[in-house]
Amino acid sequence: MIADVSKSNKIVVEKSTVPVKTAEAIEKILTHNSEGINFQILSNPEFLAEGTAIQDLFEPDRVLIGGRETPEGQKAIKALRDVYAHWVPVDRIICTNLWSAELSKLAANAFLAQRISSVNAMSALCEATGADVSQVSHAVGKDTRIGPKFLNASVGFGGSCFQKDILNLVYICECNGLPEVANYWKQVIKVNDYQKTRFVNRIVSSMFNTVSGKKIAILGFAFKKDTGDTRETPAIDVCKGLLGDKAMLSIYDPQVSEEQIQRDLSMNKFDWDHPVHLQPTSPSSMKQVSVVWDAYAATKDAHGICILTEWDEFKTLDYQKIYDNMQKPAFVFDGRNIVDVAKLREIGFIVYSIGKPLDEWLKDMPAVA
Ligand code: UDX
Repeated sequence: MIADVSKSNKIVVEKSTVPVKTAEAIEKILTHNSEGINFQILSNPEFLAEGTAIQDLFEPDRVLIGGRETPEGQKAIKALRDVYAHWVPVDRIICTNLWSAELSKLAANAFLAQRISSVNAMSALCEATGADVSQVSHAVGKDTRIGPKFLNASVGFGGSCFQKDILNLVYICECNGLPEVANYWKQVIKVNDYQKTRFVNRIVSSMFNTVSGKKIAILGFAFKKDTGDTRETPAIDVCKGLLGDKAMLSIYDPQVSEEQIQRDLSMNKFDWDHPVHLQPTSPSSMKQVSVVWDAYAATKDAHGICILTEWDEFKTLDYQKIYDNMQKPAFVFDGRNIVDVAKLREIGFIVYSIGKPLDEWLKDMPAVA
């Protein structure tokens, strides 16, 4: 389409995260249809995160521009650099060759996901040893070579990018005959899956080895706070795990619609990538799910609460009131480490918080079923 409508030379900028060498494919297609017009392809990967997009746009850590190492390629890079230079300090604009720019985006997301899987792997060891994962990551993050960000243990990372980009990286490694490198990165996803399974197993084993017929409140469904996005959210796997053991789920998320939740829970993995009309709906397990519009309704008469997204409002709920309206023993499973564990135990809850010293109740319960 670009070739069809172009009447003069063009710079085509790749913003999406793409497999390495996509620029070459774009270049070939455009050149074959060019009719004398020169196309320069640049890779300018987008690093903004959901919920902080505008801030990330105005104050990026860096802007990356990759282009051909020819005079025309360098000229195109300069043209795009001059656009960014209106608001980004020039020392934060990194210019590279095309493949470095494409690969850097995949590498950056893989490194970020790897940090989360590293701290999540530690969280399992913390629970086994009595260490506290928040204290460990604080101590580790104080090393300026490591830094404090992205070291929060959680029920697992989600979002549309991390898993997809790592699988993309793994595929490229395999295609290039590098199985050891591929396996190394695959392990980041395996630990993420392990963390979600471990969380479900904790819930089931704590609640007398079954959640069948028990009402469980799910607080938070989005893959992180301040977004209504549910793509690859760990909540899907956790809810499906609980539904598999016939739990009755009452789900509340401040931003995610009932329709979205129902669709996510009735879909197979990766189906979200397909058009809506091709996604299956309303299987029988949906009878076990209700979606409500506040945390108090979700928790009323529940046996347990799972916190799956770190929404600020979950930190300030009236947990005494919630406890009074729940079945006993009342459980809280905090997948985001946001509640005050000591305070909740004082109220009477049995509390599990990822990577934190275990409640007496949980100590003898196996974490892996
Ligand atoms: C990510 C990258 O950060 C961004 O640069 C890229 O452009 C797109 O992908 P995003 O998917 O919006 O952005 O979310 P991000 O904030 O990176 O969080 C991803 C997942 O990791 C979330 O589920 C989040 O809850 C989880 N996470 C993050 C943790 O579990 N622990 C942490 O310490 C940080």
